[in-house]
Amino acid sequence: MTLRRAGIMGWPVSHSLSPKLHDFWLKQYGIEGSYEFLPVEPENLQTALVKLVDQGFVGVNLTVPHKERALPFMAKLDPLAQRVRAVNTVTLHEDGLLYGLNTDVFGFCQNILEGGYKPDRNPVALLGAGGAARSAIVALIDLGVDKIHLTNRTLTKAQSLAEEFSGKVKIFAWDDRDFLKHISLLVNATSLGMKGQPSLAFDLTNLPLDAFVTDMVYAPLETMLLKEARERGCRTIDGFGMLLHQARPAFKAFFGVDPLVTKIVRSYVLETSL
Ligand code: ATR
Repeated sequence: MTLRRAGIMGWPVSHSLSPKLHDFWLKQYGIEGSYEFLPVEPENLQTALVKLVDQGFVGVNLTVPHKERALPFMAKLDPLAQRVRAVNTVTLHEDGLLYGLNTDVFGFCQNILEGGYKPDRNPVALLGAGGAARSAIVALIDLGVDKIHLTNRTLTKAQSLAEEFSGKVKIFAWDDRDFLKHISLLVNATSLGMKGQPSLAFDLTNLPLDAFVTDMVYAPLETMLLKEARERGCRTIDGFGMLLHQARPAFKAFFGVDPLVTKIVRSYVLETSL
């Protein structure tokens, strides 16, 4: 059997945990395959994607800064990639065409459901209006949430999301904290709190005690937001599960097996990583 090649394309990419995760699964399921670091500068993205076919690749994952830039290079997009306008998984078919998928939405949904959140009639509060926020909006809508309270430092970006997902997304000022009342889930989709970024100072006084709080930032694993929420008595869901779950459909597309996300694989990837 020929070796199936896959990998993660980004710039920079050396920090990515995906190779460690996919390697674990390749060994676990005894698959003859590789999952490689593929550093590609933004201006070389198209060329690098086109070359994959001749290099024996079955597909690749895309990370920063390629997820949105890759759209025009895809021959076909799955409906989620179209709605989120971002591709994080590319599969190569025998016809040599590139198919763009989005598995971040799946990863986000699985992570919050596994963490115990059950969509109800209460609104969800969402911080941020970039790419991560877009995938969270699509995920929440697909889970049946029809009231999303969105806030972002740059109001115009929040406004354009509210227009696009009209009827579902309501905007609040960045310094407003009243919108936290009656919500059942708070999601951080900004980059605040990430290693090397300023922390997210967010007053949680108005947050109901039975609300869930999740952070799409997973390095550190427990962000300041999650720590404060936990100390307040709220249930918290870290963002690491999203990374693990988004990789499942990608691994299935590349190697034909739907891998299990277990405590063992989680601790293995986390070990010495974050
Ligand atoms: P991603 O694709 O990860 O979502 P992005 O599109 O660059 O990345 O979005 C980053 C998000 O973090 C945005 O919501 C951004 O707010 P702005 O739209 O106002 O830029 C938010 N963010 C980043 N740094 C921030 C800061 N210092 N204060 C408040 N929000 C910040």
